[in-house]
Amino acid sequence: MSDTISNKTVTLTDNQTGSRVDLPLLGGSIGPDVIDIRKLYAQTGQFTFDPGYGATGSCLSGLTYIDGDQGVLLHRGYPIEQLADQSDFLEVAYLLLNGELPNKTERDNFVTSITHHTMVHEQLSAFFRGFRRDAHPMAILCGVTGALSAFYHDSTDINDEKQRMVASHRLIAKMPTLAAMAYKYSIGQPFNYPRNNLNYAENFLHMCFAVPAEEYEIDPVIADAMDKIFILHADHEQNASTSTVRLAGSSGANPFACIAAGIASLWGPAHGGANEAVLNMLNEIGDKSNIKTFVDKAKDKDDPFRLFGFGHRVYKNYDPRAQVLRKSCHEVLNKLGVEDPLLELAMELEELALKDPYFIEKKLYPNVDFYSGIILKAMNFPTSMFTVLFAVARTVGWISQWKEMIEDDTQRIGRPRQLYVGPAQRDFTPLDKRG
Ligand code: SDX
Repeated sequence: MSDTISNKTVTLTDNQTGSRVDLPLLGGSIGPDVIDIRKLYAQTGQFTFDPGYGATGSCLSGLTYIDGDQGVLLHRGYPIEQLADQSDFLEVAYLLLNGELPNKTERDNFVTSITHHTMVHEQLSAFFRGFRRDAHPMAILCGVTGALSAFYHDSTDINDEKQRMVASHRLIAKMPTLAAMAYKYSIGQPFNYPRNNLNYAENFLHMCFAVPAEEYEIDPVIADAMDKIFILHADHEQNASTSTVRLAGSSGANPFACIAAGIASLWGPAHGGANEAVLNMLNEIGDKSNIKTFVDKAKDKDDPFRLFGFGHRVYKNYDPRAQVLRKSCHEVLNKLGVEDPLLELAMELEELALKDPYFIEKKLYPNVDFYSGIILKAMNFPTSMFTVLFAVARTVGWISQWKEMIEDDTQRIGRPRQLYVGPAQRDFTPLDKRG
Protein backbone atom coordinates (compact mmCIF):
# COMPACT_ATOMS: atom_id res chain seq x y z
CA MET A 1 0.00 0.00 0.00
CA SER A 2 1.49 3.39 -0.86
CA ASP A 3 0.60 7.01 -1.50
CA THR A 4 1.57 8.64 -4.78
CA ILE A 5 3.71 11.75 -4.57
CA SER A 6 2.06 14.09 -7.05
CA ASN A 7 4.32 16.72 -8.59
CA LYS A 8 1.98 19.29 -7.05
CA THR A 9 2.88 21.25 -3.94
CA VAL A 10 1.15 23.75 -1.66
CA THR A 11 3.21 26.81 -0.77
CA LEU A 12 2.91 28.45 2.65
CA THR A 13 4.09 32.06 2.75
CA ASP A 14 4.70 33.87 6.03
CA ASN A 15 3.31 37.30 5.15
CA GLN A 16 5.46 38.96 7.87
CA THR A 17 8.85 37.48 7.01
CA GLY A 18 8.05 36.54 3.42
CA SER A 19 9.55 33.08 4.03
CA ARG A 20 7.98 30.32 1.92
CA VAL A 21 7.60 26.60 2.51
CA ASP A 22 6.57 24.15 -0.23
CA LEU A 23 4.60 21.18 1.09
CA PRO A 24 4.09 18.13 -1.19
CA LEU A 25 0.57 16.97 -2.12
CA LEU A 26 -0.03 13.21 -1.78
CA GLY A 27 -2.68 11.45 -3.86
CA GLY A 28 -4.54 8.21 -3.09
CA SER A 29 -6.45 5.94 -5.48
CA ILE A 30 -9.72 7.92 -5.11
CA GLY A 31 -10.77 10.87 -2.96
CA PRO A 32 -9.14 14.16 -2.01
CA ASP A 33 -5.36 14.73 -2.11
CA VAL A 34 -3.65 15.43 1.23
CA ILE A 35 -1.02 18.00 2.16
CA ASP A 36 2.00 16.21 3.61
CA ILE A 37 2.87 18.26 6.73
CA ARG A 38 5.32 15.78 8.26
CA LYS A 39 8.19 18.27 7.83
CA LEU A 40 6.15 21.39 8.67
CA TYR A 41 7.39 21.84 12.27
CA ALA A 42 11.03 21.25 11.28
CA GLN A 43 10.70 23.80 8.46
CA THR A 44 8.54 26.43 10.19
CA GLY A 45 8.61 25.80 13.98
CA GLN A 46 4.81 25.73 13.79
CA PHE A 47 2.19 23.01 14.21
CA THR A 48 -1.20 22.65 12.53
CA PHE A 49 -4.33 22.94 14.68
CA ASP A 50 -7.35 20.71 14.04
CA PRO A 51 -9.34 19.74 17.19
CA GLY A 52 -11.53 16.70 16.34
CA TYR A 53 -9.31 16.00 13.33
CA GLY A 54 -12.03 17.15 10.91
CA ALA A 55 -9.50 17.98 8.20
CA THR A 56 -6.63 15.66 9.16
CA GLY A 57 -5.63 12.36 7.57
CA SER A 58 -4.02 10.12 10.21
CA CYS A 59 -2.88 7.18 8.08
CA LEU A 60 -2.79 5.43 4.76
CA SER A 61 -5.63 2.92 4.48
CA GLY A 62 -7.14 0.72 1.80
CA LEU A 63 -10.04 -0.74 3.78
CA THR A 64 -12.93 1.73 3.53
CA TYR A 65 -13.65 4.75 1.39
CA ILE A 66 -16.43 7.22 2.25
CA ASP A 67 -17.64 10.04 0.02
CA GLY A 68 -19.71 12.06 2.50
CA ASP A 69 -21.17 14.40 -0.11
CA GLN A 70 -22.35 11.60 -2.39
CA GLY A 71 -23.33 9.20 0.41
CA VAL A 72 -20.93 6.52 -0.86
CA LEU A 73 -19.39 3.76 1.31
CA LEU A 74 -16.98 1.21 -0.21
CA HIS A 75 -15.19 -1.68 1.50
CA ARG A 76 -12.08 -2.56 -0.51
CA GLY A 77 -13.91 -0.94 -3.45
CA TYR A 78 -17.21 -2.82 -3.10
CA PRO A 79 -20.33 -0.66 -2.42
CA ILE A 80 -21.95 -1.36 0.96
CA GLU A 81 -25.34 -1.83 -0.73
CA GLN A 82 -23.98 -4.74 -2.82
CA LEU A 83 -22.21 -6.34 0.14
CA ALA A 84 -25.34 -6.06 2.32
CA ASP A 85 -27.46 -7.55 -0.46
CA GLN A 86 -25.16 -10.29 -1.85
CA SER A 87 -22.50 -11.16 0.73
CA ASP A 88 -22.47 -12.31 4.35
CA PHE A 89 -20.68 -11.03 7.43
CA LEU A 90 -17.79 -13.50 7.58
CA GLU A 91 -17.10 -13.00 3.88
CA VAL A 92 -16.99 -9.21 4.48
CA ALA A 93 -14.70 -9.87 7.44
CA TYR A 94 -12.35 -11.86 5.17
CA LEU A 95 -12.49 -9.03 2.58
CA LEU A 96 -11.60 -6.36 5.15
CA LEU A 97 -8.82 -8.47 6.71
CA ASN A 98 -7.24 -9.72 3.48
CA GLY A 99 -8.17 -7.21 0.77
CA GLU A 100 -10.03 -9.50 -1.65
CA LEU A 101 -13.23 -11.57 -1.62
CA PRO A 102 -12.31 -15.21 -0.81
CA ASN A 103 -12.59 -18.09 -3.26
CA LYS A 104 -14.47 -21.19 -2.09
CA THR A 105 -11.45 -22.80 -0.38
CA GLU A 106 -10.35 -19.55 1.29
CA ARG A 107 -13.88 -18.91 2.46
CA ASP A 108 -14.36 -22.42 3.88
CA ASN A 109 -10.99 -22.30 5.69
CA PHE A 110 -11.75 -18.88 7.18
CA VAL A 111 -15.24 -19.90 8.34
CA THR A 112 -13.81 -23.10 9.85
CA SER A 113 -11.11 -21.16 11.70
CA ILE A 114 -13.56 -18.61 13.10
CA THR A 115 -16.07 -21.34 14.03
CA HIS A 116 -13.42 -23.24 15.99
CA HIS A 117 -12.34 -20.22 18.01
CA THR A 118 -15.80 -19.23 19.31
CA MET A 119 -15.44 -20.82 22.76
CA VAL A 120 -13.79 -18.77 25.52
CA HIS A 121 -11.50 -20.04 28.29
CA GLU A 122 -13.78 -21.59 30.92
CA GLN A 123 -12.29 -19.43 33.67
CA LEU A 124 -13.55 -16.32 31.87
CA SER A 125 -17.04 -17.26 33.02
CA ALA A 126 -15.87 -16.65 36.59
CA PHE A 127 -14.74 -13.16 35.52
CA PHE A 128 -18.37 -12.26 34.72
CA ARG A 129 -19.48 -13.16 38.24
CA GLY A 130 -17.57 -10.15 39.56
CA PHE A 131 -20.03 -7.74 37.94
CA ARG A 132 -23.28 -6.54 39.54
CA ARG A 133 -26.30 -8.05 37.80
CA ASP A 134 -27.43 -4.57 36.74
CA ALA A 135 -24.09 -3.73 35.13
CA HIS A 136 -24.50 -2.26 31.62
CA PRO A 137 -23.52 -4.96 29.07
CA MET A 138 -21.05 -2.51 27.48
CA ALA A 139 -19.27 -2.16 30.83
CA ILE A 140 -19.03 -5.95 31.03
CA LEU A 141 -17.89 -6.33 27.41
CA CYS A 142 -15.22 -3.66 27.81
CA GLY A 143 -13.83 -5.31 30.94
CA VAL A 144 -13.93 -8.88 29.72
CA THR A 145 -12.39 -8.05 26.33
CA GLY A 146 -9.42 -6.42 28.02
CA ALA A 147 -9.16 -9.53 30.21
CA LEU A 148 -8.67 -11.73 27.12
CA SER A 149 -5.02 -10.61 27.09
CA ALA A 150 -4.68 -12.36 30.46
CA PHE A 151 -5.83 -15.64 28.91
CA TYR A 152 -4.30 -15.70 25.43
CA HIS A 153 -0.63 -14.87 25.99
CA ASP A 154 0.30 -17.00 22.94
CA SER A 155 -1.19 -14.42 20.55
CA THR A 156 -0.07 -11.09 21.96
CA ASP A 157 3.28 -10.66 20.17
CA ILE A 158 2.29 -8.07 17.59
CA ASN A 159 5.52 -8.57 15.65
CA ASP A 160 4.69 -12.20 14.90
CA GLU A 161 2.46 -12.43 11.79
CA LYS A 162 1.02 -15.81 12.85
CA GLN A 163 0.16 -14.50 16.33
CA ARG A 164 -1.48 -11.44 14.76
CA MET A 165 -3.63 -13.71 12.62
CA VAL A 166 -4.57 -15.96 15.55
CA ALA A 167 -5.44 -12.95 17.73
CA SER A 168 -7.55 -11.48 14.91
CA HIS A 169 -9.48 -14.72 14.43
CA ARG A 170 -9.90 -15.16 18.19
CA LEU A 171 -11.36 -11.65 18.58
CA ILE A 172 -13.76 -12.00 15.62
CA ALA A 173 -14.84 -15.43 16.86
CA LYS A 174 -15.12 -14.72 20.58
CA MET A 175 -16.77 -11.29 20.55
CA PRO A 176 -20.27 -12.73 19.89
CA THR A 177 -19.72 -15.29 22.65
CA LEU A 178 -18.66 -12.59 25.14
CA ALA A 179 -21.53 -10.31 24.03
CA ALA A 180 -24.08 -13.08 24.51
CA MET A 181 -22.56 -13.92 27.92
CA ALA A 182 -22.85 -10.24 28.94
CA TYR A 183 -26.53 -10.31 27.95
CA LYS A 184 -27.27 -13.61 29.69
CA TYR A 185 -25.49 -12.44 32.85
CA SER A 186 -27.51 -9.21 32.91
CA ILE A 187 -30.81 -11.15 32.80
CA GLY A 188 -29.72 -13.88 35.21
CA GLN A 189 -29.91 -16.72 32.69
CA PRO A 190 -27.25 -19.42 32.17
CA PHE A 191 -24.63 -18.96 29.45
CA ASN A 192 -25.01 -20.93 26.22
CA TYR A 193 -21.97 -22.49 24.56
CA PRO A 194 -21.44 -21.74 20.86
CA ARG A 195 -22.69 -24.32 18.35
CA ASN A 196 -20.38 -25.22 15.43
CA ASN A 197 -23.30 -26.32 13.27
CA LEU A 198 -24.67 -22.74 13.17
CA ASN A 199 -23.42 -19.82 11.07
CA TYR A 200 -22.11 -16.66 12.71
CA ALA A 201 -25.43 -14.79 13.05
CA GLU A 202 -27.43 -17.92 13.96
CA ASN A 203 -24.85 -18.86 16.59
CA PHE A 204 -25.06 -15.40 18.15
CA LEU A 205 -28.85 -15.50 18.27
CA HIS A 206 -28.75 -18.99 19.80
CA MET A 207 -26.24 -17.93 22.50
CA CYS A 208 -28.43 -14.90 23.32
CA PHE A 209 -31.92 -16.37 23.27
CA ALA A 210 -31.73 -20.14 23.85
CA VAL A 211 -32.66 -21.44 27.32
CA PRO A 212 -31.93 -24.94 28.67
CA ALA A 213 -35.62 -25.60 29.21
CA GLU A 214 -36.50 -25.87 25.52
CA GLU A 215 -35.16 -26.04 21.98
CA TYR A 216 -34.49 -22.61 20.39
CA GLU A 217 -35.89 -22.27 16.88
CA ILE A 218 -33.81 -19.88 14.76
CA ASP A 219 -36.02 -17.62 12.65
CA PRO A 220 -34.28 -17.25 9.25
CA VAL A 221 -35.74 -13.74 8.88
CA ILE A 222 -34.09 -12.63 12.11
CA ALA A 223 -30.82 -14.46 11.32
CA ASP A 224 -30.65 -12.78 7.91
CA ALA A 225 -31.39 -9.36 9.44
CA MET A 226 -28.73 -9.97 12.12
CA ASP A 227 -26.11 -10.84 9.51
CA LYS A 228 -27.02 -7.75 7.46
CA ILE A 229 -26.80 -5.49 10.53
CA PHE A 230 -23.33 -6.93 11.26
CA ILE A 231 -22.23 -6.18 7.66
CA LEU A 232 -23.51 -2.57 7.88
CA HIS A 233 -21.58 -1.93 11.10
CA ALA A 234 -18.33 -3.72 10.17
CA ASP A 235 -16.04 -0.80 9.39
CA HIS A 236 -16.23 2.91 8.73
CA GLU A 237 -12.82 4.49 8.00
CA GLN A 238 -11.12 6.43 10.81
CA ASN A 239 -14.08 7.02 13.17
CA ALA A 240 -13.52 7.77 16.86
CA SER A 241 -13.35 4.16 18.07
CA THR A 242 -11.20 2.97 15.15
CA SER A 243 -8.80 5.87 15.70
CA THR A 244 -8.72 4.87 19.39
CA VAL A 245 -7.74 1.32 18.43
CA ARG A 246 -5.04 2.61 16.08
CA LEU A 247 -3.65 5.03 18.66
CA ALA A 248 -3.57 2.33 21.34
CA GLY A 249 -1.98 -0.12 18.89
CA SER A 250 0.65 2.40 17.78
CA SER A 251 2.35 2.02 21.18
CA GLY A 252 2.66 -1.75 20.64
CA ALA A 253 -0.18 -2.63 23.03
CA ASN A 254 -1.62 -6.12 22.49
CA PRO A 255 -4.68 -6.45 20.21
CA PHE A 256 -7.07 -7.49 23.01
CA ALA A 257 -6.27 -4.32 24.98
CA CYS A 258 -6.62 -2.21 21.80
CA ILE A 259 -10.08 -3.63 21.02
CA ALA A 260 -11.15 -3.01 24.64
CA ALA A 261 -10.13 0.64 24.12
CA GLY A 262 -12.23 0.74 20.95
CA ILE A 263 -15.25 -0.63 22.84
CA ALA A 264 -14.85 2.10 25.46
CA SER A 265 -14.82 4.82 22.78
CA LEU A 266 -17.75 3.33 20.85
CA TRP A 267 -19.92 3.45 23.99
CA GLY A 268 -20.31 7.24 23.85
CA PRO A 269 -23.78 8.52 22.77
CA ALA A 270 -22.19 10.71 20.08
CA HIS A 271 -20.78 7.53 18.49
CA GLY A 272 -21.94 3.92 18.80
CA GLY A 273 -24.06 4.67 21.85
CA ALA A 274 -26.39 6.66 19.57
CA ASN A 275 -28.51 3.63 18.62
CA GLU A 276 -29.48 3.15 22.27
CA ALA A 277 -30.00 6.93 22.58
CA VAL A 278 -32.27 6.96 19.49
CA LEU A 279 -34.66 4.42 21.03
CA ASN A 280 -34.67 6.29 24.34
CA MET A 281 -35.32 9.54 22.43
CA LEU A 282 -38.20 8.02 20.40
CA ASN A 283 -39.73 6.67 23.60
CA GLU A 284 -39.38 10.12 25.19
CA ILE A 285 -41.02 11.79 22.19
CA GLY A 286 -43.78 9.21 22.56
CA ASP A 287 -46.25 10.70 20.10
CA LYS A 288 -46.14 12.44 16.70
CA SER A 289 -47.66 15.53 18.33
CA ASN A 290 -44.42 16.00 20.35
CA ILE A 291 -42.00 15.75 17.40
CA LYS A 292 -41.89 19.50 16.70
CA THR A 293 -41.01 20.25 20.33
CA PHE A 294 -38.01 17.92 20.19
CA VAL A 295 -36.87 19.17 16.78
CA ASP A 296 -37.02 22.73 18.13
CA LYS A 297 -34.97 21.65 21.18
CA ALA A 298 -32.37 20.13 18.84
CA LYS A 299 -32.15 23.43 16.96
CA ASP A 300 -31.84 25.54 20.12
CA LYS A 301 -28.17 26.55 20.56
CA ASP A 302 -28.74 26.97 24.29
CA ASP A 303 -30.10 23.44 24.62
CA PRO A 304 -27.51 20.62 24.65
CA PHE A 305 -30.12 18.21 23.25
CA ARG A 306 -29.36 16.82 19.80
CA LEU A 307 -31.50 14.63 17.60
CA PHE A 308 -29.83 11.23 18.06
CA GLY A 309 -29.45 9.29 14.84
CA PHE A 310 -29.05 12.48 12.84
CA GLY A 311 -25.90 14.13 11.57
CA HIS A 312 -22.47 12.80 10.84
CA ARG A 313 -18.93 14.14 10.73
CA VAL A 314 -18.43 12.84 7.21
CA TYR A 315 -21.84 12.22 5.61
CA LYS A 316 -23.42 15.45 4.43
CA ASN A 317 -25.93 13.32 2.55
CA TYR A 318 -27.98 10.27 3.49
CA ASP A 319 -25.83 7.60 5.22
CA PRO A 320 -26.08 4.68 2.74
CA ARG A 321 -26.27 2.29 5.70
CA ALA A 322 -29.33 4.12 7.01
CA GLN A 323 -31.03 3.62 3.65
CA VAL A 324 -30.39 -0.14 3.73
CA LEU A 325 -31.56 -0.31 7.35
CA ARG A 326 -34.65 1.77 6.61
CA LYS A 327 -35.63 -0.78 3.95
CA SER A 328 -34.80 -3.70 6.26
CA CYS A 329 -36.91 -2.15 9.01
CA HIS A 330 -40.04 -2.50 6.93
CA GLU A 331 -39.10 -5.99 5.69
CA VAL A 332 -38.27 -7.38 9.15
CA LEU A 333 -41.26 -5.82 10.92
CA ASN A 334 -43.64 -6.96 8.16
CA LYS A 335 -42.23 -10.53 8.14
CA LEU A 336 -42.42 -10.65 11.94
CA GLY A 337 -45.88 -9.12 11.90
CA VAL A 338 -44.66 -6.42 14.28
CA GLU A 339 -46.54 -3.14 14.29
CA ASP A 340 -44.10 -0.85 16.11
CA PRO A 341 -45.46 2.68 16.58
CA LEU A 342 -41.85 3.80 17.07
CA LEU A 343 -41.19 3.05 13.38
CA GLU A 344 -44.06 5.29 12.37
CA LEU A 345 -42.76 7.91 14.78
CA ALA A 346 -39.23 7.60 13.34
CA MET A 347 -40.50 7.96 9.75
CA GLU A 348 -42.53 11.05 10.77
CA LEU A 349 -39.52 12.53 12.59
CA GLU A 350 -37.29 11.88 9.59
CA GLU A 351 -39.79 13.51 7.21
CA LEU A 352 -40.19 16.60 9.40
CA ALA A 353 -36.44 17.01 10.05
CA LEU A 354 -35.46 16.60 6.40
CA LYS A 355 -37.83 19.45 5.48
CA ASP A 356 -36.58 21.73 8.25
CA PRO A 357 -34.29 24.57 7.01
CA TYR A 358 -31.93 24.06 10.01
CA PHE A 359 -31.31 20.40 9.12
CA ILE A 360 -31.12 21.20 5.41
CA GLU A 361 -28.61 24.01 5.93
CA LYS A 362 -26.44 21.91 8.27
CA LYS A 363 -26.82 18.83 6.02
CA LEU A 364 -28.08 16.67 8.87
CA TYR A 365 -29.42 13.33 7.59
CA PRO A 366 -30.33 10.09 9.35
CA ASN A 367 -27.21 8.03 10.11
CA VAL A 368 -26.66 4.31 10.67
CA ASP A 369 -28.02 4.53 14.21
CA PHE A 370 -31.39 6.01 13.33
CA TYR A 371 -33.10 2.81 12.19
CA SER A 372 -30.91 0.05 13.64
CA GLY A 373 -32.49 0.28 17.09
CA ILE A 374 -35.99 -0.28 15.72
CA ILE A 375 -34.97 -3.54 14.04
CA LEU A 376 -33.01 -4.70 17.09
CA LYS A 377 -36.01 -3.99 19.31
CA ALA A 378 -38.20 -6.07 16.94
CA MET A 379 -35.61 -8.86 17.29
CA ASN A 380 -36.19 -8.75 21.08
CA PHE A 381 -32.83 -7.26 22.04
CA PRO A 382 -33.02 -4.88 25.02
CA THR A 383 -31.88 -1.30 24.29
CA SER A 384 -28.83 -1.80 26.52
CA MET A 385 -27.54 -4.44 24.06
CA PHE A 386 -27.69 -2.23 20.95
CA THR A 387 -24.16 -0.80 21.25
CA VAL A 388 -22.86 -4.24 22.22
CA LEU A 389 -24.10 -5.53 18.85
CA PHE A 390 -22.39 -2.58 17.16
CA ALA A 391 -19.14 -3.59 18.96
CA VAL A 392 -19.48 -7.23 17.83
CA ALA A 393 -19.67 -6.11 14.19
CA ARG A 394 -17.08 -3.34 14.47
CA THR A 395 -14.51 -5.72 15.95
CA VAL A 396 -13.94 -6.88 12.37
CA GLY A 397 -13.15 -3.32 11.25
CA TRP A 398 -11.11 -2.52 14.34
CA ILE A 399 -8.88 -5.58 14.04
CA SER A 400 -8.51 -5.13 10.26
CA GLN A 401 -7.47 -1.50 10.75
CA TRP A 402 -5.11 -2.54 13.58
CA LYS A 403 -3.54 -5.22 11.33
CA GLU A 404 -3.15 -2.70 8.49
CA MET A 405 -1.45 -0.25 10.84
CA ILE A 406 0.96 -2.85 12.26
CA GLU A 407 1.88 -3.93 8.72
CA ASP A 408 2.38 -0.32 7.53
CA ASP A 409 6.13 0.24 7.76
CA THR A 410 5.61 4.02 7.83
CA GLN A 411 3.52 3.93 11.02
CA ARG A 412 4.92 5.53 14.20
CA ILE A 413 3.57 5.89 17.72
CA GLY A 414 0.70 8.38 17.63
CA ARG A 415 1.61 11.53 19.52
CA PRO A 416 -0.41 14.69 18.64
CA ARG A 417 0.82 18.13 19.81
CA GLN A 418 -1.26 21.09 21.10
CA LEU A 419 -1.75 24.84 21.20
CA TYR A 420 -0.71 25.64 24.79
CA VAL A 421 -2.88 28.28 26.48
CA GLY A 422 -1.83 27.73 30.10
CA PRO A 423 0.43 29.92 32.31
CA ALA A 424 4.00 30.71 31.20
CA GLN A 425 6.80 29.44 33.48
CA ARG A 426 6.56 30.72 37.10
CA ASP A 427 8.26 29.84 40.45
CA PHE A 428 6.66 27.63 43.12
CA THR A 429 4.92 29.56 45.96
CA PRO A 430 5.33 27.95 49.42
CA LEU A 431 2.06 27.34 51.30
CA ASP A 432 2.67 30.09 53.89
CA LYS A 433 3.17 32.61 51.09
CA ARG A 434 -0.08 31.83 49.23
CA GLY A 435 -3.12 34.10 49.54
C1 SDX B 1 -21.66 7.02 14.41
O1 SDX B 1 -17.45 8.70 12.46
C2 SDX B 1 -18.16 7.68 12.09
O2 SDX B 1 -18.01 7.14 11.01
C3 SDX B 1 -19.15 7.19 13.12
C4 SDX B 1 -20.09 6.08 12.68
C5 SDX B 1 -19.36 4.79 12.44
O3 SDX B 1 -19.88 3.93 11.71
O4 SDX B 1 -18.29 4.59 13.08
O5 SDX B 1 -20.76 6.44 11.48
C6 SDX B 1 -21.15 5.79 13.75
O6 SDX B 1 -21.12 7.42 15.39
C7 SDX B 1 -22.81 7.76 13.77
C8 SDX B 1 -23.15 9.10 14.53
C9 SDX B 1 -24.07 8.74 15.70
N1 SDX B 1 -24.26 9.92 16.58
C10 SDX B 1 -25.45 10.53 16.70
O7 SDX B 1 -26.45 10.23 16.04
C11 SDX B 1 -25.48 11.63 17.76
C12 SDX B 1 -26.15 12.88 17.17
N2 SDX B 1 -25.25 13.45 16.16
C13 SDX B 1 -24.36 14.50 16.61
O8 SDX B 1 -23.89 14.38 17.91
C14 SDX B 1 -23.32 14.88 15.54
O9 SDX B 1 -23.99 14.97 14.34
C15 SDX B 1 -22.10 13.99 15.34
C16 SDX B 1 -21.37 13.75 16.61
C17 SDX B 1 -22.49 12.68 14.73
C18 SDX B 1 -21.16 14.72 14.37
O10 SDX B 1 -20.73 15.84 15.02
P1 SDX B 1 -19.71 16.87 14.30
O11 SDX B 1 -19.20 16.36 13.03
O12 SDX B 1 -18.73 17.31 15.32
O13 SDX B 1 -20.67 17.99 13.86
P2 SDX B 1 -20.94 19.22 14.75
O14 SDX B 1 -21.21 18.77 16.15
O15 SDX B 1 -19.86 20.20 14.50
O16 SDX B 1 -22.32 19.74 14.13
C19 SDX B 1 -22.32 20.65 13.07
C20 SDX B 1 -23.55 21.51 13.37
C21 SDX B 1 -23.54 22.08 14.78
O17 SDX B 1 -24.24 23.31 14.74
P3 SDX B 1 -23.32 24.69 14.69
O18 SDX B 1 -22.44 24.65 15.93
O19 SDX B 1 -22.54 24.64 13.39
O20 SDX B 1 -24.36 25.80 14.74
O21 SDX B 1 -24.73 20.71 13.28
C22 SDX B 1 -25.38 20.66 14.54
C23 SDX B 1 -24.39 21.11 15.58
O22 SDX B 1 -25.05 21.73 16.66
N3 SDX B 1 -25.78 19.26 14.76
C24 SDX B 1 -26.97 18.88 15.24
C25 SDX B 1 -26.92 17.47 15.23
N4 SDX B 1 -25.74 17.04 14.77
C26 SDX B 1 -25.03 18.16 14.49
N5 SDX B 1 -28.03 19.59 15.65
C27 SDX B 1 -29.10 18.85 16.08
N6 SDX B 1 -29.14 17.49 16.10
C28 SDX B 1 -28.08 16.78 15.68
N7 SDX B 1 -28.13 15.45 15.69
